[in-house]
Amino acid sequence: MHAVGIVAAAGSGLRLGADRPKALVPLAGRPLVAWAVDTLLGSGVAEVVVAVPADELAAFAAVLPPEARPVVGGATRTASVRAALAAVTDPARPAPDAVLVHDAARPLTPPEVVTRVLAALADGAPAVVPVLPVVDTTVRVDGDGVVTGALPREALRRVQTPQGFAGAVLVDAYDRLPDGVELTDDAAVVRAAGVPVATVAGDERAAKVTVPHDLALAELQVPR
Ligand code: C5P
Repeated sequence: MHAVGIVAAAGSGLRLGADRPKALVPLAGRPLVAWAVDTLLGSGVAEVVVAVPADELAAFAAVLPPEARPVVGGATRTASVRAALAAVTDPARPAPDAVLVHDAARPLTPPEVVTRVLAALADGAPAVVPVLPVVDTTVRVDGDGVVTGALPREALRRVQTPQGFAGAVLVDAYDRLPDGVELTDDAAVVRAAGVPVATVAGDERAAKVTVPHDLALAELQVPR
C-alpha cells in the first residue's frame, strides 16, 4: 500500500503562548513538527507534506527531513489540509492508496497507533480514526454555564490523529466540502460526504499539545 502523510502544522499556537508557531516549539530540543513527521516516516509512510504558516516556509524547511515537503497552509485547519492534499495528489505523481493526516501538535504519538490505522485501511476501511474512551462525566451547559444535561459517556470517544483515508475518498470528500465550511478534523469531512468512519485504539501518549501544561507533560514523557 502506497501511503503518504499530511501533517497540519500551520497553526499559530496562541494558547501555548510561545514566541513562534506551535509546530516549531521544541520538545526535548526538537520542534514538535519534526517529532510528528518522524512518527509517520518511521511507520511505513513514504513521504509527508507539511502545511506551514505562509511566512515560515524557510524556518520549517530547515528543520524537516528530505522526505517532508513544506507547503503553505491556510487560515484554518480545514484550509491547511486542503492545501496539503492538493500537493500530495499532484497529477504528475503516482496516486496514493492511502493518506494519513496527522497533527504536528501530537509529537509523542507511538508508532503502534500509525500501524493500527494502516492495518484498518489495508483491511478495507475507507476511513479510520484512533480513539480513546471519555473518562469524565461530560455535560452540556447553557450560555450562563448552567448544566442542562449529561451525555452518556459510554458512547463517547475522544478522537486523535493520525486519521487514515483511502486516497480517493479523502480527495472526493474535500472536493464536495463547500468553501468556508470549517471542521475540526478530517473524519468530519468524509462523514459530511456520507463515508463511514471506523475506529481503532488510540493512545494517551498521542495527546495534543495545546496549553503550556501539555508541553510540560510531554517533556516528562519523552522516551530517553
Ligand atoms: O488548534 P489545534 O491545536 O486544534 O490545531 C490542530 C493542528 O492543526 C495543529 O497541528 C495546527 O498546527 C494545525 N493547524 C493548521 N492550520 C491552521 C490551524 C491549525 O495546520 N490554520
